[in-house]
Amino acid sequence: MIEPLKTVPISFKVNGRPVSLEVGAGETALHAIRERLQLTGAKEGCGIGECGACTILVNAKAVNACLMLAAQMDGTSIRTVEGLAGGGSIHPLQKAFLDHHAVQCGFCTPGLLMSAAALLKEHPCPDRRTIADGLSGNLCRCTGYRQIFQAVEAVAQGEKEKTQ
Ligand code: FES
Ligand code: FES
Repeated sequence: MIEPLKTVPISFKVNGRPVSLEVGAGETALHAIRERLQLTGAKEGCGIGECGACTILVNAKAVNACLMLAAQMDGTSIRTVEGLAGGGSIHPLQKAFLDHHAVQCGFCTPGLLMSAAALLKEHPCPDRRTIADGLSGNLCRCTGYRQIFQAVEAVAQGEKEKTQ
């Protein structure tokens, strides 16, 4: 009788760095990222795809890491909030969230930043409705969303001015 597969070898990139891991056949990407790689920016809120606190980028698309199997990361390029900034300074979205007071308890913030990054990549000049739709999978219990939307608009506006 063939034994069921208990672990799976995977190789992928996380924040530009090549990684190889043995993961459990039923292990989530969120668990592997947080517990094996110690990248604890992505949070576990609901664990069922409702809150967006666990959002990461998989091949530049926003994904709920709690709903993804770790084995599915094989061959992908993963970006977490730890890899959002670069070159020794914070990402424009991180700065805008601070400037616009879009952070209170901060539990939702890593997921929102990753969703906002994916949104701006797809829609560099989003209107308020597009921002609301793009961030609709990320729940925030503290801010009321207005400051978050303003922060994303400020980054979009800044990028637009740079190109003019
Ligand atoms: S923890 Fe993944 S969506 Fe809530
Ligand atoms: S800042 Fe607290 S949940 Fe969003």
